[in-house]
Amino acid sequence: MLVWFFDSWLGGQVVMEAFRREHPDIEMILEMDRENAPYGHRSWDEIRALTERWVTRLHNRWADVVILACNTASVHALRWFQTEIFPGRHILGVTVPWAEAVVAGWYHRIWVLATDATVRSRMYKERVHILDDSIIVEEIAAPGLVPLIEQGITEWPEIDILLRDYLSQFSLDIEALVLGCTHYPLIRDSIGRIWMELYNQKTPDLIDPGEESAKRFGSWMGRKFLQ
Ligand code: DGL
Repeated sequence: MLVWFFDSWLGGQVVMEAFRREHPDIEMILEMDRENAPYGHRSWDEIRALTERWVTRLHNRWADVVILACNTASVHALRWFQTEIFPGRHILGVTVPWAEAVVAGWYHRIWVLATDATVRSRMYKERVHILDDSIIVEEIAAPGLVPLIEQGITEWPEIDILLRDYLSQFSLDIEALVLGCTHYPLIRDSIGRIWMELYNQKTPDLIDPGEESAKRFGSWMGRKFLQ
């Protein structure tokens, strides 16, 4: 089986590695849209059009499963692809499994750090509320992080300055923080350090949508391919 991952940029590597840890026997390839990245500031129509072009290309290259590793592409295009553009094809994203993990973890107040486009879509809140509408979901857009991480900058001083701004917008009573962009696991340590500096305590539980998707992929495959 060939699983093809798509991300706007380098963060897709983080997601694919999470899948490789869980499913080392599956052949996986990553494709990125370096030419048009970042997607995080783009409009709904642009993100859909760019992602559709890539998914079509990947299907033409015999992908058995296409995974939209990009959170921004997932929230804007996944449902539309599954129901209208590519029905019958195997296309997955990274947004449903983390919402299931939030409900399974009995969290009541969560915060999501994500790209501007992801926050604008309000889809993260919707995903959780389909499962449990009593969970409080607040979202903060962090537009400056991705371009820095792409340049290999993951800590002091540039990342720290931005994180101080974004993380100070959260309230202390949150129980989990969702890393709502594929790049953010790469700055997990900096998030922990700045959280400690701001609030003098460890971060709340960090939820990584890529990891949660990788964990649940086995049961999805079992339903689709092994019956
Ligand atoms: N990979 C995208 C995501 O997970 C972020 C990068 C971008 O802005 O293109 O949301």
